[in-house]
Amino acid sequence: MKKILFVCLGNICRSPMAEAIMNDLIKKQNYKMQAYSAGTSGYHNGERPHAKTLSQLKKHNIETSYLISTQLQKEDYKKYDYIVGMDENNIKEIYRILQIQKNDPKIFKLLEQNIPDPWYSGNFEETYDLCLEGCSNLIKKLITK
Ligand code: 4NP
Repeated sequence: MKKILFVCLGNICRSPMAEAIMNDLIKKQNYKMQAYSAGTSGYHNGERPHAKTLSQLKKHNIETSYLISTQLQKEDYKKYDYIVGMDENNIKEIYRILQIQKNDPKIFKLLEQNIPDPWYSGNFEETYDLCLEGCSNLIKKLITK
Protein backbone atom coordinates (compact mmCIF):
# COMPACT_ATOMS: atom_id res chain seq x y z
CA MET A 1 0.00 0.00 0.00
CA LYS A 2 1.59 3.26 -1.17
CA LYS A 3 1.23 6.21 1.19
CA ILE A 4 1.21 9.75 -0.16
CA LEU A 5 1.55 12.79 2.10
CA PHE A 6 0.43 16.17 0.69
CA VAL A 7 2.02 19.18 2.37
CA CYS A 8 1.15 22.91 2.40
CA LEU A 9 1.67 25.72 4.91
CA GLY A 10 -1.44 25.67 7.11
CA ASN A 11 -2.90 22.24 6.25
CA ILE A 12 -6.40 23.72 6.05
CA CYS A 13 -6.69 24.73 2.37
CA ARG A 14 -4.53 23.14 -0.33
CA SER A 15 -3.14 19.90 1.11
CA PRO A 16 -6.42 18.65 2.66
CA MET A 17 -8.07 19.47 -0.71
CA ALA A 18 -5.47 17.28 -2.47
CA GLU A 19 -5.77 14.56 0.21
CA ALA A 20 -9.56 14.35 -0.13
CA ILE A 21 -9.51 14.44 -3.96
CA MET A 22 -6.77 11.79 -4.10
CA ASN A 23 -8.58 9.47 -1.66
CA ASP A 24 -11.76 9.90 -3.70
CA LEU A 25 -9.94 8.92 -6.93
CA ILE A 26 -8.24 6.00 -5.15
CA LYS A 27 -11.56 4.72 -3.77
CA LYS A 28 -13.39 5.02 -7.10
CA GLN A 29 -10.66 3.08 -8.90
CA ASN A 30 -9.97 0.61 -6.10
CA TYR A 31 -6.24 1.31 -5.95
CA LYS A 32 -4.03 0.20 -3.06
CA MET A 33 -2.92 3.65 -1.97
CA GLN A 34 -3.85 6.11 0.73
CA ALA A 35 -3.40 9.89 0.86
CA TYR A 36 -2.72 11.98 3.96
CA SER A 37 -1.78 15.64 4.53
CA ALA A 38 0.20 17.90 6.85
CA GLY A 39 1.30 21.51 7.21
CA THR A 40 4.81 22.90 7.52
CA SER A 41 3.36 25.18 10.25
CA GLY A 42 1.33 24.15 13.28
CA TYR A 43 -0.85 27.30 13.03
CA HIS A 44 -4.05 25.27 12.67
CA ASN A 45 -3.15 22.04 14.49
CA GLY A 46 -6.24 20.01 15.37
CA GLU A 47 -8.54 22.22 13.28
CA ARG A 48 -10.90 21.17 10.50
CA PRO A 49 -10.19 22.50 6.97
CA HIS A 50 -11.15 26.03 5.92
CA ALA A 51 -14.94 26.35 5.37
CA LYS A 52 -14.37 27.09 1.67
CA THR A 53 -12.16 24.01 1.26
CA LEU A 54 -15.00 21.95 2.74
CA SER A 55 -17.64 23.58 0.54
CA GLN A 56 -15.62 22.98 -2.65
CA LEU A 57 -15.17 19.31 -1.75
CA LYS A 58 -18.81 18.87 -0.75
CA LYS A 59 -19.88 20.45 -4.04
CA HIS A 60 -18.12 17.56 -5.76
CA ASN A 61 -19.47 14.93 -3.33
CA ILE A 62 -16.07 14.22 -1.83
CA GLU A 63 -15.83 12.86 1.74
CA THR A 64 -14.34 15.39 4.18
CA SER A 65 -15.27 14.09 7.66
CA TYR A 66 -11.81 12.69 8.49
CA LEU A 67 -9.75 15.79 7.61
CA ILE A 68 -7.91 17.42 10.56
CA SER A 69 -4.88 19.72 10.44
CA THR A 70 -1.57 18.36 11.67
CA GLN A 71 2.03 19.55 11.45
CA LEU A 72 4.75 17.80 9.42
CA GLN A 73 7.21 15.90 11.66
CA LYS A 74 10.78 14.73 11.03
CA GLU A 75 9.56 11.11 11.48
CA ASP A 76 7.15 11.48 8.52
CA TYR A 77 10.00 10.84 6.09
CA LYS A 78 9.99 7.14 7.03
CA LYS A 79 6.20 6.82 7.13
CA TYR A 80 5.39 7.90 3.56
CA ASP A 81 6.42 6.78 0.09
CA TYR A 82 5.85 10.21 -1.49
CA ILE A 83 5.82 13.66 0.09
CA VAL A 84 4.19 16.18 -2.22
CA GLY A 85 4.34 19.98 -1.75
CA MET A 86 2.05 22.61 -3.27
CA ASP A 87 4.66 25.31 -3.88
CA GLU A 88 8.41 25.96 -3.84
CA ASN A 89 8.30 27.27 -0.29
CA ASN A 90 6.62 24.08 0.94
CA ILE A 91 9.43 22.07 -0.67
CA LYS A 92 12.09 24.16 1.09
CA GLU A 93 10.31 23.75 4.42
CA ILE A 94 9.84 19.99 3.90
CA TYR A 95 13.63 19.58 3.49
CA ARG A 96 14.25 21.76 6.55
CA ILE A 97 11.80 19.86 8.80
CA LEU A 98 12.73 16.36 7.62
CA GLN A 99 16.46 17.20 7.74
CA ILE A 100 17.34 15.30 4.60
CA GLN A 101 19.60 15.88 1.60
CA LYS A 102 18.31 17.88 -1.40
CA ASN A 103 16.92 16.19 -4.54
CA ASP A 104 15.27 13.28 -2.76
CA PRO A 105 13.09 11.36 -5.28
CA LYS A 106 10.34 10.94 -2.63
CA ILE A 107 9.81 14.70 -2.52
CA PHE A 108 8.27 16.76 -5.33
CA LYS A 109 5.66 19.41 -6.18
CA LEU A 110 2.13 18.33 -7.14
CA LEU A 111 2.27 20.38 -10.35
CA GLU A 112 5.19 22.06 -12.07
CA GLN A 113 3.54 25.39 -11.28
CA ASN A 114 3.06 26.54 -7.69
CA ILE A 115 -0.52 26.07 -6.49
CA PRO A 116 -1.50 29.57 -5.30
CA ASP A 117 -2.51 29.79 -1.66
CA PRO A 118 -6.28 30.47 -1.46
CA TRP A 119 -5.80 31.71 2.12
CA TYR A 120 -4.49 34.85 0.39
CA SER A 121 -6.14 34.69 -3.07
CA GLY A 122 -9.61 33.60 -1.89
CA ASN A 123 -9.88 31.47 -5.04
CA PHE A 124 -10.78 28.00 -3.76
CA GLU A 125 -12.21 26.94 -7.10
CA GLU A 126 -8.75 27.39 -8.64
CA THR A 127 -7.30 25.28 -5.79
CA TYR A 128 -9.81 22.52 -6.49
CA ASP A 129 -9.10 22.53 -10.24
CA LEU A 130 -5.31 22.49 -9.81
CA CYS A 131 -5.41 19.80 -7.09
CA LEU A 132 -7.64 17.64 -9.30
CA GLU A 133 -5.27 18.08 -12.25
CA GLY A 134 -2.25 17.24 -10.09
CA CYS A 135 -3.87 14.25 -8.39
CA SER A 136 -5.15 12.80 -11.69
CA ASN A 137 -1.63 13.02 -13.15
CA LEU A 138 -0.02 11.63 -10.00
CA ILE A 139 -2.32 8.63 -9.76
CA LYS A 140 -1.56 7.71 -13.38
CA LYS A 141 2.17 7.98 -12.67
CA LEU A 142 1.94 5.84 -9.53
CA ILE A 143 -0.12 2.99 -10.98
CA THR A 144 2.43 2.40 -13.72
CA LYS A 145 5.25 2.06 -11.15
P1 4NP B 1 -2.77 26.38 3.16
O1 4NP B 1 -3.26 27.91 3.39
O2 4NP B 1 -1.28 26.38 3.34
O3 4NP B 1 -3.17 26.07 1.76
O4 4NP B 1 -3.53 25.57 4.20
C1 4NP B 1 -2.96 28.65 4.53
C2 4NP B 1 -3.75 28.53 5.64
C3 4NP B 1 -3.47 29.29 6.77
C4 4NP B 1 -2.40 30.17 6.77
C5 4NP B 1 -1.60 30.30 5.65
C6 4NP B 1 -1.88 29.53 4.53
N1 4NP B 1 -2.13 30.97 7.91
O5 4NP B 1 -1.22 31.83 7.84
O6 4NP B 1 -2.80 30.81 8.95
